[in-house]
Amino acid sequence: MNEIISIKDIDFSYGKHEIFKNFSLDVEKGDFITIIGPNGSGKSTLVRILLGLEKTTGEIYVNSLRMNKQNIREIMSKIGVVLENPDDQFVAETVMHEISFSLENMQVESSEIRKRVNKIAEFVGIEELLEKEPHSLSGGQKQLVSLASALAINPDVLILDEAFTMLDVETKEKIYKKIKYLNETENLTILNVSHDTEDTLNGNKILVLDNGKVILYGPKEEVLLEEKKFNNLGLALPFMAELSIKLKYYDLIDDLIFDMDEMVNKLWK
Ligand SMILES: Nc1ncnc2c1ncn2[C@@H]1O[C@H](COP(=O)(O)OP(=O)(O)OP(=O)(O)O)[C@@H](O)[C@H]1O
Ligand SMILES: [Mg+2]
Repeated sequence: MNEIISIKDIDFSYGKHEIFKNFSLDVEKGDFITIIGPNGSGKSTLVRILLGLEKTTGEIYVNSLRMNKQNIREIMSKIGVVLENPDDQFVAETVMHEISFSLENMQVESSEIRKRVNKIAEFVGIEELLEKEPHSLSGGQKQLVSLASALAINPDVLILDEAFTMLDVETKEKIYKKIKYLNETENLTILNVSHDTEDTLNGNKILVLDNGKVILYGPKEEVLLEEKKFNNLGLALPFMAELSIKLKYYDLIDDLIFDMDEMVNKLWK
């Protein structure tokens, strides 16, 4: 196993409200995991714990390094984070400076910073926003700037918590293609918390949480067969998974098919 993150036996409570009890989870390098679960199931708390923002018992390892107060900065320098409300994360007066902020802190050379900021702005599609003030942007634009800042540090792990909720359908699709490309070509590990189960099709694995417990965790091709468990949690299966399960029931296909064209080709034969 090639784990980049390993959570071992953690307990965590908000006051008397227990959220996690003996919680463990391994993330393999290069995984693109979509984390889903009902409201209040602990998804954002798990993210906060991974960012070292909450104190827990048990152990958390990132790149084989046990997370503690002394190394948290070093660990975080390789983790890019985008949360739902990017406003809370903005620190600079221009988008350009916002994206370069972490690089300056890491003492990257200024010509290298300029190059990297321009490259990342082009990659995310926000070149024309570079001179703007972050707080003046639309919700979706803010989410794109926040993604650019997260990617600028060349992270090993990208953690997204409802990070694309304000993007229009077309932009969201484009951005998923981009991060999938980084996942495939640079082995970027991605943890993507989303309440939209359609998003699960973008990654290779799915983690379903309920009440701080792992209900399902594994390759999407296996997890998405568990229609009953999804329904019990009030979660919808992605359309293509639901359709596949129905067609599979009537022996029209053997495995789940997530791509519409592929499905049409298969049925047409
Ligand atoms: N700062 C806090 N103080 C006390 N309780 C909290 C705090 N933040 C979250 N909780 C509680 O912890 C539980 C898990 O919340 P969390 O935000 O992790 O859920 P979530 O899965 O991210 O939900 P959502 O889908 O609504 O974003 C909830 O019962 C919530 O009420
Ligand atoms: Mg949340």
